[in-house]
Amino acid sequence: MSSAQIKRPLQSAKCGALTGDVRVPGDKSISHRSLMFGGLAEGETRITGLLEGEDVLATADAMRKLGATVTRDDDGTWHVHGVGVGALREPDSVIDMGNAGTGIRLLAGIVATHPITTFFTGDASLCKRPMGRVADPLAEFGAKFITRDRGRPPMAVIGTDEAVPVTYTLPMASAQVKSAVLLAGLNTAGTTTVIEPKPSRDHTERMLRHFGVDVDVQVNDDGGRTVSLTGPCQMTAADIVVPTDPSSAAFPLVAALIHPESNVTIRDVCLNPLRTGLITTLIEMGGDITITNEREEAGETIGDLVVTGKNRLKGIVVPAERAPSMIDEYPVLAVAAAYAEGETRMCDLEELRVKESDRLAAVAAGLAANGIIHRIEGDDLIVTGGVVPGGGMVETHLDHRIAMSFLVLGLRAEKPVMVDDAAPIATSFPIFEQLMADLGTNFAPVKN
Ligand code: S3P
Repeated sequence: MSSAQIKRPLQSAKCGALTGDVRVPGDKSISHRSLMFGGLAEGETRITGLLEGEDVLATADAMRKLGATVTRDDDGTWHVHGVGVGALREPDSVIDMGNAGTGIRLLAGIVATHPITTFFTGDASLCKRPMGRVADPLAEFGAKFITRDRGRPPMAVIGTDEAVPVTYTLPMASAQVKSAVLLAGLNTAGTTTVIEPKPSRDHTERMLRHFGVDVDVQVNDDGGRTVSLTGPCQMTAADIVVPTDPSSAAFPLVAALIHPESNVTIRDVCLNPLRTGLITTLIEMGGDITITNEREEAGETIGDLVVTGKNRLKGIVVPAERAPSMIDEYPVLAVAAAYAEGETRMCDLEELRVKESDRLAAVAAGLAANGIIHRIEGDDLIVTGGVVPGGGMVETHLDHRIAMSFLVLGLRAEKPVMVDDAAPIATSFPIFEQLMADLGTNFAPVKN
């Protein structure tokens, strides 16, 4: 049973300055892709630094069910023996993707152009999330989908062995949808093209190249991108060093910024420019963040973040164009905004409504429960910072990032902030509580 099925209420009480030197786990997006691409490649892919969170472990199991051999050494090195593009085997049981939206959507793309039928399910959160955004373009290749509740999992994908290539313009900025289409293109004769009006994280493009696929990326006049590849593609096994996850680094980062005496170093953070919107925003808010030791490793820029709380954050307007580069970071940015001076407006957060929870609603409810002035105007969230009263219980709706964000809110609140369930944190950041405790936080189980 996944830890996310047993509720574990946790509280975060006021603590002193945070100090220390930490390293967060591997990037979730890159970890999912490492296992999937390793499973599609011919030969053995060795992966170090893989995030061993529940979402990624679900992908490892899925790849096994689809025919790849996936093993782990005691030292944490993973080995994937791939079957080759086009050679996945039909799973003989339902694939349970747990909480993992990236897992189910990218795998849907992969199996859509294999002549197999795959059944997917997930937890209560995943079973509320829209799959039409991948099913629609994947149906254009010739795959068929059966879903419940107008496009929600459980979902059956009946793959095609006569796939026709597709040119698809993304209706929303989504790396998951872009990736699903490109991955379907791998086993499709001809050129598959995705046009994205706003650039989203490009790990699929970078990593497919690493596995020997020729991926063409053009920057369009409007700043968007046109990405194409010509199949059928052959993929060759390639070793991967997974950089650490900027979306996990976001929590110790904001935690350090909200106490004036804090001084925290976060090591080896992936600084892919399509992932650094939160760092840009916090620096604009006045946050004292220095990037040191910047270098290239395994095709990504990485660096250390040296963070102090010496500058009080100030409210700003966060532009809509920045959203794709910090899409998972808005809950914790709302927490930073609650401690900032003045108003912070976060523009155009429509996509937040279809994450692991309706994050716009969940953040607003959490802020309300803890006495923070805020409002929603259209799809904008506006938070007025100041003293944080705290004392509220936050409903996390099986959403790891809601849980972690509100635990950060408690660090300087007048009264402890409680989250109704810390169990989902294990999906993306299994060492979160220990890492934060090492920095000096004060988390404890909620007593009845
Ligand atoms: C991801 C893309 C984003 C992000 C998710 C991971 C990926 O989702 O929120 O956590 O790995 O491609 P969308 O594609 O829905 O924006």
